[in-house]
Amino acid sequence: MRVALAADHGGAALKDELIPRLADAGHEIVDLGGDGSDPDDDYPKFARRAGEAVRGGQVERAIVVCGSGVGAAIAANKLRGIRAGVAHDTYSAHQGVEHDDMNVLCLGARVIGSALATELAITFLAARYRDEGRFRRRVAEVAAIEDAEMGPTPADLGALPAEGSRPR
Ligand code: RB5
Repeated sequence: MRVALAADHGGAALKDELIPRLADAGHEIVDLGGDGSDPDDDYPKFARRAGEAVRGGQVERAIVVCGSGVGAAIAANKLRGIRAGVAHDTYSAHQGVEHDDMNVLCLGARVIGSALATELAITFLAARYRDEGRFRRRVAEVAAIEDAEMGPTPADLGALPAEGSRPR
């Protein structure tokens, strides 16, 4: 799978460990930085980059690493269409995809070691959304919250008839 990795200064070292391991597992990696050298490199920037890469279709999924994973998840979830979660256990790493269509995994480099992080990433990338029944309904309910908060999507706006052609 084509997957983006991104990290703030708290997560860059773990990101750099994950990249060759995920590549060895057959994934195509897009490294969106950072390199860990700047203590002011904050997680919102990297969560946004990763979320935009998923939303724009450049990658199928993303993994964002920060100190705890929490900040990255909070920031990534501000992007429409992004369903990010912190998962530090393998059950959540696959169930979050299968049930909730999680498309961004957030990891905490100060919480877990690189061996577990690798297992979590591989588990996340191997999982597939079960696009059916109650799962589809719940994901649609989440999207409805997004629509209520953010208004119509650009696609919705594009689908409206041109201003002058609307019936009165
Ligand atoms: C950075 O020092 C740290 O606060 C950040 O990586 C993260 O833990 C936020 O959730």
